[in-house]
Amino acid sequence: MRFSSKLPDVGTTIFTVMSRRALEEGALNIGQGFPDYPIDPRLAESLTAVIAEGRNQYAPMEGVLELREAIAAKLERSYARRVDPHSEITVTCGGTEALYDAIQAVVSPGDEVIIFDPAYDAYEPAVRLAGGRCLRIALSPPAFRVDWDRVRGTINDRTRLIIINSPQNPSCTVLSSEDLDALAALIRDRPITVLADEVYEHVLYDGRRHASVVAHSELKESSFAVFSFGKTLHATGWRIGYCVAPPALTRELRKVHQFNTFSIVAPLQYAIARYLAAAPEVAAGLAAFFQAKRDLLAGRLRGSGFEPVPAAGTYFQLVDYRALSADGDTDFADRLIREAKIATIPLSPFYAAPPPMTLLRLCIAKQDATLNEAADRLCSFAAKHARG
Ligand SMILES: Cc1ncc(COP(=O)(O)O)c(C=O)c1O
Repeated sequence: MRFSSKLPDVGTTIFTVMSRRALEEGALNIGQGFPDYPIDPRLAESLTAVIAEGRNQYAPMEGVLELREAIAAKLERSYARRVDPHSEITVTCGGTEALYDAIQAVVSPGDEVIIFDPAYDAYEPAVRLAGGRCLRIALSPPAFRVDWDRVRGTINDRTRLIIINSPQNPSCTVLSSEDLDALAALIRDRPITVLADEVYEHVLYDGRRHASVVAHSELKESSFAVFSFGKTLHATGWRIGYCVAPPALTRELRKVHQFNTFSIVAPLQYAIARYLAAAPEVAAGLAAFFQAKRDLLAGRLRGSGFEPVPAAGTYFQLVDYRALSADGDTDFADRLIREAKIATIPLSPFYAAPPPMTLLRLCIAKQDATLNEAADRLCSFAAKHARG
């Protein structure tokens, strides 16, 4: 059979590659971002109950109303803004589907999309499938700061979408409200939409507050904001996310969603709605929960040769291994799997043209025992391999 691939250069994601290598080598996997501890038993009980009650048929295309109302209440608590659950919230298959639908909804052949490297890997393939092209602006470690003048210089008549991600995976940085103001000024009076990937909205450290496009006076009118219950409820396998956007953008997003997944697993939606009604405070504790884990791991690694880079948010921690090796990060990550029996995620695959870097991403959404075991393995590897 003859056919030509639409994404000839797209292989398996670095997350899958490293998780598979971890299995092959019997390594501890603190690379891919998923918790290794159980979900709240009340959430599991809600699911069993709604299935037994017969909530097992198609959910409405836009999402179960009870869930969209619970999301609206959560948004109001977090961002002091009332969003209309009927016309501005759509439940999707994880944040990933929301990202895909938003991109298909607004990007046409020939359009350009600005993204920032290191970029989460789901953005570019979706842009290309829509016939668009990504212009990737590389952010430099360790600050990974956005230079908005550079963004201004990149915008042109073909620019249709700018994708931001805060808290940012994998750099663990966050955008400030001044960053959002700068972005708003850049797109003012231009036909440019913003896609804000905010799946780590509740995981900001050291008292920082999340600057959401949902709460921004201008950006809320021209943005899709993407969220994920996988992150908020420690249930990445449930694949429930949602998109918040003004009615005109939501209408376009739903046209894609309708013929992509049509609607999302009904009992999971009812279970989350019921759980949020019983435990509305659940998001409020997330920052402290993950900050304690960040501090545990960073505290164990400081001075070891795997130097923690200050993390402002997300449930990851970057470490710099330059004191141990000058190897490239993918080679070094593979060596760690073989020799230290620990799987991490290198940063260069998140760049189109990676700068010289000696950084690895560790996931802190793990039991303390797992984090301690990871620290033991990294410290003993470092003790053997410290450079001169
Ligand atoms: C930055 C970012 N965006 C989106 C997603 C996808 O979220 P979901 O698992 O809900 O599809 C992830 C998941 O790791 C992520 O890190």
